[in-house]
Amino acid sequence: MGGVGTVVVVVLLATAISAFANDPDMLQDVCVADHTSEILVNGFPCKSMSNVTAEDFFFTGISKPGKINNLLGSKVTGANVKGIPGLNTLGVSMARVDFGPYGLNPPHIHPRATEIIFVLEGELYVGFITTSNKFISKFIKAGEVFVFPKGLAHFQKNTSKKQTSVIAAFNSQFPGAQQFVASLFTSTPPVPNLVLAQSLNIDLHEAEAIRVGLN
Ligand code: GLV
Ligand code: MN
Repeated sequence: MGGVGTVVVVVLLATAISAFANDPDMLQDVCVADHTSEILVNGFPCKSMSNVTAEDFFFTGISKPGKINNLLGSKVTGANVKGIPGLNTLGVSMARVDFGPYGLNPPHIHPRATEIIFVLEGELYVGFITTSNKFISKFIKAGEVFVFPKGLAHFQKNTSKKQTSVIAAFNSQFPGAQQFVASLFTSTPPVPNLVLAQSLNIDLHEAEAIRVGLN
């Protein structure tokens, strides 16, 4: 193949890859998830149209603040395909995050989605880090919007004593979330202390102390 042919193939491949960079597009109007099925597909199998009702597309779970039950002082409530079966194959979802005084939604990534947040009430310090280690951060308040690009580490921190809440939207029916700081120390089976200590330039006892603190 000549030079021009190679360039065309590379451009076509790049286009195809970017076309599949988000949830795949649907092949029918609706495909309400059958969460009882044991069949494994990319997403969930569709339940019979005769059993589909408005309830499959309805959710009240983010109408009120979520109960904050962790030491970090924040609570994420998902509104994704797990709770709204009608979202299956549609490539979108939401979440609500509530923060107590100075609460933190700790650094995490969404492997399958970009996130956009709208601040319902309160004030936050938010940020993300690019793969070239540039830190982008901002103080935001009620009525304002901020975006966290797909796959990049990000966090949100309440900067005041006031109750603070955001609504988040994602371009995936199931964005996934990995709180990687905690994951390193709380996985099953555990990542060996040797690996953690060497990675963080700390000694084995310090690695074990962090593990105990997080478990
Ligand atoms: C906030 O970052 C969220 O993932 O809900
Ligand atoms: Mn997030």
